[in-house]
Amino acid sequence: MSLSGKVAIVTGAARGIGASIALKLAQEGAKVAITYATSSSTPKAAALVSRLSELGTSGIAIQADLADDTAPNQIVAKTLSGFGVDHIDILVNNAGVADVHPVEEVTRDMYDNVFAINTRAVFFMTQAVLPYISKGGRIIHVSSTNARTGMPGTAVYSASKVALEAFTRVMAAEFGPKYGVTVSAVNPGPVATDMYLSAPDTLRETMDELVKNVPAGGRMGTPEDIADIVSFLASENSRWVSGNVVTANGGMVMM
Ligand SMILES: NC(=O)c1ccc[n+]([C@@H]2O[C@H](COP(=O)([O-])OP(=O)(O)OC[C@H]3O[C@@H](n4cnc5c(N)ncnc54)[C@H](OP(=O)(O)O)[C@@H]3O)[C@@H](O)[C@H]2O)c1
Repeated sequence: MSLSGKVAIVTGAARGIGASIALKLAQEGAKVAITYATSSSTPKAAALVSRLSELGTSGIAIQADLADDTAPNQIVAKTLSGFGVDHIDILVNNAGVADVHPVEEVTRDMYDNVFAINTRAVFFMTQAVLPYISKGGRIIHVSSTNARTGMPGTAVYSASKVALEAFTRVMAAEFGPKYGVTVSAVNPGPVATDMYLSAPDTLRETMDELVKNVPAGGRMGTPEDIADIVSFLASENSRWVSGNVVTANGGMVMM
């Protein structure tokens, strides 16, 4: 197992893509702290923690709203105390929200909420982990193909993900020499999670048509497709990858 004994945090991991990432890292031997925000996800987080212990590793579930500025330090403190360790090896900044509206309908609250979770929380979650990151550690951001396309209705979401790609490059340049850490991002295309299924019909109809021509296979991505790529980026095998956005969309968006 490539991640045996490693300590990982995966944000937004009670369901969707994050849950698959947490499971995959655990299958590779990592101890995984699963974060989530809403009480309705508590049973899912608990079930995932049980599954991790059945795999012979361990997990802890941490409820924390990443819109709250105190959440990053709380997550780090609970991870260290929960596993009885003094370091963190892997941070996957996966938690995200999408709020799809034409520009004219976007309110300041909608704008601020998307940036608070998708962008500001990623920045400060990363900052909170740095004092504990191990040499050879991995920081992985979950971006989106929307960072590189112009889908109507996604201006704020897309911009929030563009920022993650900038974080990836600058953090890679800063953290490599200082901490011996690599920083990467993945950019999934459509994956049939709650987020995707709650998008407006018009956006889903456009996406459903586009996925028919995905070069690696005429289909949507699965959470497992994304988790396998994140698992590679979390492993020693990705030691010479840093500062990149790694295609996680079957070639739907190639740059
Ligand atoms: N699905 C797609 O088609 C797609 C495509 C490209 C990129 N992505 C990206 O992939 C990531 C995961 O998306 P998904 O599709 O798996 O979404 P999802 O099924 O809606 O899950 C989102 C996760 O983020 C957590 N979250 C939301 N708001 C939060 C907050 N305020 N504080 C802490 N956690 C919060 C949720 O926690 P709760 O469970 O507690 O609500 C949930 O675990 C996101 O960054 C998304 O932008 C998704």
